[in-house]
Amino acid sequence: MSKDIAREIERLREQIRRHEYLYYVLDQPEISDYEFDELMRRLRKLEAEHPEYVTPDSPTQRVGGKPREGFVKVAHSSPMLSLDNALNEGELRDFDRRVRELLGGKPYRYVAELKLDGLSMAARYENGLLVRAITRGDGLEGEDVTENARTIRSVPLRLRDGLPDIEVRGEVIMNRRAFERLNEERRAQGLPLYANPRNSAAGSLRVLDPSITAARQLDYYAYLLLRGGEPFIPSHWDSLAELERLGFKVNPNRRLCRNFEELLEFIGEWETRRESLPYEIDGIVVKVDSIEQQRRLGWTAKAPRWAIAFKYAPRQAETVVENIEVQVGRTGALTPVAHLRPVNVGGVTVSRATLHNEDEIERLGVQIGDVVAVERSGEVIPKVVRVVRPGENRRPFVMPKQCPVCGGEVVREPGEVASRCLNTNCPARLKESIRHFASRAVMDIDGLGEALIDQLVDRGLVKSIADLYRLKLDQLVGLERMAEKSASKLLANIEASRSRPLPRLLNGLGIPFVGERTATILAETFGSLDAIAQADIETLQKAEGVGPKVAHSVYTFFRQPRNRELIERLRAEGLQFELAARKRAGGPLEGKTFVLTGTLPTLTREEATRLIEAAGGKVTGSVSRKTDYVVAGEEAGSKLAKARELGIPVIGERELREMMAGG
Ligand code: IVH
Repeated sequence: MSKDIAREIERLREQIRRHEYLYYVLDQPEISDYEFDELMRRLRKLEAEHPEYVTPDSPTQRVGGKPREGFVKVAHSSPMLSLDNALNEGELRDFDRRVRELLGGKPYRYVAELKLDGLSMAARYENGLLVRAITRGDGLEGEDVTENARTIRSVPLRLRDGLPDIEVRGEVIMNRRAFERLNEERRAQGLPLYANPRNSAAGSLRVLDPSITAARQLDYYAYLLLRGGEPFIPSHWDSLAELERLGFKVNPNRRLCRNFEELLEFIGEWETRRESLPYEIDGIVVKVDSIEQQRRLGWTAKAPRWAIAFKYAPRQAETVVENIEVQVGRTGALTPVAHLRPVNVGGVTVSRATLHNEDEIERLGVQIGDVVAVERSGEVIPKVVRVVRPGENRRPFVMPKQCPVCGGEVVREPGEVASRCLNTNCPARLKESIRHFASRAVMDIDGLGEALIDQLVDRGLVKSIADLYRLKLDQLVGLERMAEKSASKLLANIEASRSRPLPRLLNGLGIPFVGERTATILAETFGSLDAIAQADIETLQKAEGVGPKVAHSVYTFFRQPRNRELIERLRAEGLQFELAARKRAGGPLEGKTFVLTGTLPTLTREEATRLIEAAGGKVTGSVSRKTDYVVAGEEAGSKLAKARELGIPVIGERELREMMAGG
């Protein structure tokens, strides 16, 4: 009996490990999130009933530890030094010349890898199990972050092959999307924003409470494989393949270069391609491939002579702050914005940069008239990073006492970083609420841009979000730059937004402190908008991660008459007040199996899965003869090819919606 249980537990763990690997390392899931959750649930249940079988490498043990008092310092097995930089081609040629000379004319090859912008971490394995994870620290000694590292799904708790004692070094990163989400969430909560993905990765790994790391969606890319502090595979290129075999994520964008020209080619290619990566890189790491040759080249006091970091020109530039004005957001928060003398930053002209809030202005010490450095990273809005030179006739910025848009009173509550306009009817707030409501991640109403929103509000056509659903063609056609064709397209997009799932609608209401994540959790916990609206503060706090502050904000929101009125009007417009059920027997998709691939026009993968499941269908991760339909969006890849090969019908989001509607 107990032997059977032990066997079942081990079988489940193996399945889960395999699917985690497929999902988090290879990015090629074979089963739906729902099926994966089922496996985890089953394992958790068995382990709860038989705690004697719980082992530290079980997939359930990623978040186990309690918050700690502080970090313990641990010595590195060999120094974690940093790399010298080459800031241009000339400096890279100097490096290559030195290598050639020191190797006495023998042939050599380079491995070129992306330089991910995060923080380095060493992970030690004994008998194939993760025993310790350590930050770089001062290079000789780092902090023990084992509990936190265990929550990063691309850090294997157990190696996939063999039981060796090894040490892996790599980079912990946060991708752009996770970074933007986190900041959006922090903005909604009035918390200070992280300046870049690097800082937020560091801030998320070096926290005492591992459950915070777990919620932050970090990723780990391995780039060195050591034993006893030394490489043990004769070629670095081969050791990267070995790391992959052991179950680590190794960046696939790498190249073995036979000469300097091939190296330059790789660097040139990524100069532009890097913008399209889901994470940030700040350059290319170049390493001599042969470990024997690495040993001959040796080290200086602070860096190896066998490697160098080629840095791309930073997207930073200097310019003058001509003025600082405030912008009013949807929660009434006043954001100071620097108006700059236009300057080219990495190919884009920048004339405005955010200063976030008064505390940030104080931290930077910036005043009107100063020369500052502005930086642009990824799609993130440009920001002022430091004062280069104080202006001669500089003058400090003073937060206005009255709202620059409506003249209403401005207040900064104790304990908050933001100053807010208290007038709920302020047109700036309405415009911002509509912009938020229509944005891609929320109700995704394509074509409802800033200029149009300004006109709609200024002409009194829209006085509340609900008015959007009452707009008529002839009202729109009269507006600037609005032909009949674009107007009817917009109306169709507004129409389509009625079916957006509850979490999006909830996010769209603009409740202070409720962003995408909290909205999803609330929707999933309570199941309907009415249940959330009726819940008292105590009940609201039963939802995961909802503390007194958020609960109070939600509670207050639904008790204000103007918000109640908005809700009733949105209900009358037929918006989604219920969370689509996970499964429904007898639905229009009953018995049908779907595979999703590529990016769909309006639905995220999770939403599409939930809708299909709600209509009785099933979603799997890979195409086989058992698949009934492949739903393909933009940039669909190998799954689409496979579907064509097997002759499985390929449909788009529109056809899927028609099928779900019973068509
Ligand atoms: S090799 C001695 N490879 O860049 C070898 N480092 O300034 C040192 N980094 O601290 C590291 N991607 O945090 C290496 N593919 C890569 C890397 C990489 C990012 C970081 C790492 C290191 C810093 C070097």
